[in-house]
Amino acid sequence: MPAVKQHGGGPAFSSYLPRLGNLIQQYNSPRILELGGERKPSFTLAQLPHNVSSYTVNDISAEELTLTPSEYDKALFDVNGDVGEFAGQFEVVFSRTLMEHVRDGQAAHRNVVSLLKPGGVAFHMAPTLHAAPFVLNRLLRAAVSPTARHSLFPHQRSEKPKFPAYYSWCYGNREKMIGMLRKIGYQDFEIINFYGLNYFKKIPIVRSVDRAFRHLPSAAIGLLSDRPYM
Ligand SMILES: C[S@@+](CC[C@H](N)C(=O)[O-])C[C@H]1O[C@@H](n2cnc3c(N)ncnc32)[C@H](O)[C@@H]1O
Repeated sequence: MPAVKQHGGGPAFSSYLPRLGNLIQQYNSPRILELGGERKPSFTLAQLPHNVSSYTVNDISAEELTLTPSEYDKALFDVNGDVGEFAGQFEVVFSRTLMEHVRDGQAAHRNVVSLLKPGGVAFHMAPTLHAAPFVLNRLLRAAVSPTARHSLFPHQRSEKPKFPAYYSWCYGNREKMIGMLRKIGYQDFEIINFYGLNYFKKIPIVRSVDRAFRHLPSAAIGLLSDRPYM
């Protein structure tokens, strides 16, 4: 029975681990796989739910995985590529801010289905392009100096490598996402939308416009949500 909930706001990042932990705890000794986990996997080993039997961290970047602590199992592969070596091995497959960086979202979600054991669950947190901050980010790249852009998006000053974002299959519109995911084999769904980003706290006029958007009816807001979980 599909379950779709929409929450009118909330801290996507701070609720990510508890929600994921709850899903993991429903399984008996699950093997879990984090996609695009890079050098800093979502769970530290101290935070990991006690029932987990193995935690594998994937990334497309060999360099990132060499920086991932050696206590984690590691799997170097492209989520858009051939994942046959790992097919059918995991109860839980998850990602945080990976899906927007994947060139072909449909192929990635198909591959996740094949990585799961029967009865397994996939959990992703990703932004949508149709959130104002991300559109603004794209426009600013073309129009504004790096210094001005960095004052709005401080994380872009980081020395960590920057990953291109394609936003393929990253939509806040739940009906659209569910239709697409159902066609490739998913059966039950929960999509939780979060709205609003801290970026706008620094720009009073844009902040007011952002707040106004958050009070639109949910049908309109579906197109504008920032960070849906799927
Ligand atoms: C923005 S980082 C997110 C890292 C981490 N999950 C986090 O929340 O901080 C995206 C990561 O996904 C990896 N990545 C990008 N495309 C990928 C692909 N096709 N297959 C596997 N990993 C990929 C990148 O190398 C990078 O480490």
